Amino acid sequence: MSFHTIEQAPARLNRSELAVPGSAPQMFEKAAQSEADVIFLDLEDAVAPDDKAQARKNIIKALNEIDWGKKTMSVRINGLDTHYMYRDVVDVVEQAGARLDLIMIPKVGTAADVYAVDMMVTQIEDAKGYKKRIGFEHIIETALGMQNVSEIAAASKRNESLHFGVADYAASTRARTTIIGGVNPDYAVLTDPLDDATRAVHWGDMWHYALARMVVAARANGLRPVDGPFGDFSDPEGYKAAAKRAAVLGCEGKWAIHPSQIAMANEVMSPSEKEVTRARRILDAMAEAASQGKGAVSLDGRLIDYASIRQAEVLVEKARQIAGA
Ligand code: GLV
Ligand code: MG
Repeated sequence: MSFHTIEQAPARLNRSELAVPGSAPQMFEKAAQSEADVIFLDLEDAVAPDDKAQARKNIIKALNEIDWGKKTMSVRINGLDTHYMYRDVVDVVEQAGARLDLIMIPKVGTAADVYAVDMMVTQIEDAKGYKKRIGFEHIIETALGMQNVSEIAAASKRNESLHFGVADYAASTRARTTIIGGVNPDYAVLTDPLDDATRAVHWGDMWHYALARMVVAARANGLRPVDGPFGDFSDPEGYKAAAKRAAVLGCEGKWAIHPSQIAMANEVMSPSEKEVTRARRILDAMAEAASQGKGAVSLDGRLIDYASIRQAEVLVEKARQIAGA
């Protein structure tokens, strides 16, 4: 390991993150009863300009009055380039900061964006005498944000997670998309003709580079990487495939833009019984090996060593976290 220690963000379950428009208070109670690990009440893109002020009021009331149980509560503020953002922060943190766990910053572009919000939140928390510190989640969804993702990830002690905002990212990079978070048949490899002249088309994942880059920046700074929206909520198989790809790369969670996506995110982002059992067997086998002075042994015909311990511990720790939730 490097001599540089990576401080980890507070451990929170973040398998599913439900988006709820602040302008739709009729959805709040159902969201509170849901199985989502995290809820973000939205002031940004799901809310029309004329509804922003009322949405802010709805969110403040809801944070103070609804029983959200043990859920992690977040509010997505408007971007720093708008004139809504300062009032989002001031009103929501002043009037409902006690129940707010996280602020989600959309379209973050530079470390200075994070610094600016940190400064505002710090002043409000100090003025109000809040003991609990509000954390930050950042949506990486512009070319600028992706270019500066490492600096953004390191920009504040409040940082907890990075989210891949595929819809705005596509707009910013001028990518050719079909549906939000979906795949494009033009992003494919056409194989050379085989002996019988047949050729195959292999669809690729056009989001791979962006997501993988964000995962690295998040993990190098002790943050949770979380995959963003999948727009077609009538395509559960498409959603699960996208969630699995994100999980394989190291993401801890995925957004749910519809309640039906919550259970799928929770399932895909939880280690399976089989994986946890195997991880426990690896830990037992390595403990046994260590007692015999060995560093590497074979289990079920495969090599395991100290790196296997670290991988197994991640799974066992996650299972413990889920069991304790
Ligand atoms: C989320 O905000 C996105 O743009 O995908
Ligand atoms: Mg967006």
